[in-house]
Amino acid sequence: MKIPEIIKNRRSIRSFLDKELPEEISKTLIEAACLAPSAGNLQPWEFIILKEEETKKKLVEAAYGQEFISEAKIVIVVCANPNSSAARYGTRGSSLYCLQDTAAAVQNILLTATDNGLGGCWVGAFDEKKASEALKLPREIRPVAIIPIGYPKTIPPSRPRRGYSEVVHLETW
Ligand SMILES: Cc1cc2nc3c(=O)[nH]c(=O)nc-3n(C[C@H](O)[C@H](O)[C@H](O)COP(=O)(O)O)c2cc1C
Repeated sequence: MKIPEIIKNRRSIRSFLDKELPEEISKTLIEAACLAPSAGNLQPWEFIILKEEETKKKLVEAAYGQEFISEAKIVIVVCANPNSSAARYGTRGSSLYCLQDTAAAVQNILLTATDNGLGGCWVGAFDEKKASEALKLPREIRPVAIIPIGYPKTIPPSRPRRGYSEVVHLETW
């Protein structure tokens, strides 16, 4: 048994080359995102793809000054629609499933970017209200992750992980 190389090679990339991305990349990344599992196959995700400097700057501000966001050629903001999950699953849908579903979509984007020689970073530290305003999101839509994407300038070493014996509880906790 082995871990796929792409999972081992993915890193959070926070510096990007000033190099244009292939035209079709955002379509490929979104199609990969949409292959993620979702509760009841409801697919409660929405994606904002943005390239304009002005919008990136607003996201940097919403993300407490994380400047590398504006270095990226494209930024994908993965959003969740809690209402769509709530309609079938109630509070569990709106407070849990829609976030789990979109998180799986985020990981698909990051792995697909890596597989295409690109890099990205899951940025979750941001002011939701500011990000929603910058992106003109409808009131019910929640921004879940900001993902700046580009060709990596530097690829950092892998960060330490808790080991198997630290995280596994056999049979019960
Ligand atoms: C929910 C979540 C929120 C994160 N938010 C940020 C963030 O706001 N800024 C940032 O630079 N990295 C952020 N990260 C990336 C983590 O710092 C990173 O995944 C972790 O340090 C492990 O490094 P690796 O992704 O290179 O393996 C976030 C990751 C997750 C899953």
